[in-house]
Amino acid sequence: MDGAKIPAHIGIIMDGNGRWATARGKKRSYGHRAGTANVERITEHVFNRGIKTLSLFAFSSENWARPKEEVDELMRLLEVYFKKFLKKLQKENIRVAVMGDTSVLSSKLQKVIEKSVEATKNNDRGILNIGINYGARQEIAHAVNKLLSKGEPITAESISENLYTAEFGEPDLIIRTGGELRLSNFMLYQGAYAELYFTDVLWPDFDESELDKAIEEFGRRHRRFGKVEES
Ligand code: IPE
Ligand code: IPE
Ligand code: MG
Repeated sequence: MDGAKIPAHIGIIMDGNGRWATARGKKRSYGHRAGTANVERITEHVFNRGIKTLSLFAFSSENWARPKEEVDELMRLLEVYFKKFLKKLQKENIRVAVMGDTSVLSSKLQKVIEKSVEATKNNDRGILNIGINYGARQEIAHAVNKLLSKGEPITAESISENLYTAEFGEPDLIIRTGGELRLSNFMLYQGAYAELYFTDVLWPDFDESELDKAIEEFGRRHRRFGKVEES
């Protein structure tokens, strides 16, 4: 794979935890725990491969409609994740960012997130950007409202500059695990020219070799951005 093109920014729609658990005769929360463990494994591999930015879809603005028990477990896991991995991310020199409307999360979870974001803000080996209560449509509306309140013109560029991810640029590659062929409200604006990679592998089973396959596939794509030749 030496010399092949490597994406600078990867987005992952981490789907399939529930089905992974059901297939094992377990409750969906068992799958969410396995999925959370996989975040650690994949994050490490992504940055070891020299990728600069990783955007993970952890909880969508539509996921609140799930049974309360499941939502509570997902929120609990997020808290555990931030607490548990902060040290490791510090050691690995990774900066943590969160995209989404975090204002509706419990104050405890908000504090844990703020602490991680603040503690890692000067880390510069890579950026781990986590989507929590994230929805791309809401993000676009939020950006437009920001522009309106500042009285600034609404253009393709100005919207882009006011998205949660303004600082991190656009994903070159969006991966969705779990077999569904849709974006489910993930990075719709900044993904306009992302290469899409769908796999049936369920998120807890998506290991380092699966990620390498996606990166290899990216290396074979021809990105033209509307032009005739690849740039
Ligand atoms: C993805 O797995 C995790 C979240 C959406 C939080 P799912 O929970 O959607 O798993 P499936 O798609 O039901 O298998
Ligand atoms: C997308 O998965 C959201 C996350 C991975 C966090 P969903 O399981 O919520 O998507 P749908 O409902 O299948 O479209
Ligand atoms: Mg799903």
